[in-house]
Amino acid sequence: MSTVLAPAPRAQEDFAPLRDLVTGLGVLVEQFEAGDEAILPAVRPLLARLIARDGWLPAEFARPHPDHYQQYLLHCDSAERFSIVSFVWGPGQGTPIHDHRVWGLVGVLRGQERSEHFARRPDGSLHATGTSLLERGDIELLSPTQGDIHRVSNGLADAPSISIHIYGGNIGAVARATYDLAGREKRFISGYANARLPNLWKRSESL
Ligand SMILES: [Fe+2]
Repeated sequence: MSTVLAPAPRAQEDFAPLRDLVTGLGVLVEQFEAGDEAILPAVRPLLARLIARDGWLPAEFARPHPDHYQQYLLHCDSAERFSIVSFVWGPGQGTPIHDHRVWGLVGVLRGQERSEHFARRPDGSLHATGTSLLERGDIELLSPTQGDIHRVSNGLADAPSISIHIYGGNIGAVARATYDLAGREKRFISGYANARLPNLWKRSESL
């Protein structure tokens, strides 16, 4: 005799931490000129609060791709003043050397992330200026005016890593550049891996 098991109830999604971040950013961007990097120290504690907790990121926005990293849009401001993204790195995956053209913050939610920084020499070529190893809970700031050219990769060789990024624009639509070590730029617009967004505004389940 076989036993028929009822399907396990779907875990209730808790978008409150992400919704709180969106609400907080919405207040902050009203206090700064569009693109003003002076906003960075004010955004940092909001991101720190989000990544201090796990369990709020739905599995479909935490899924690695076997061949390359994934960039999932979690939210974009209606005036495109900021966007929130999850980056998911499989083992061994990373980016080319690139820039951002808008302010940004990177916070590690799971695993470890390696960020190698580069600067231009007078002849325009790039040289490495240092490497940051970001652990869970760590945050790195990205400032185009201070120099934001870097190459990012999963710090773990045997497990996925996930970081949450906040940018001062709709980062998937920003025309920016990748670089080779000679400093030659190749324009790119990253886009996003997902076609649908998490529904942060479905509050009925928590009522
Ligand atoms: Fe980057």
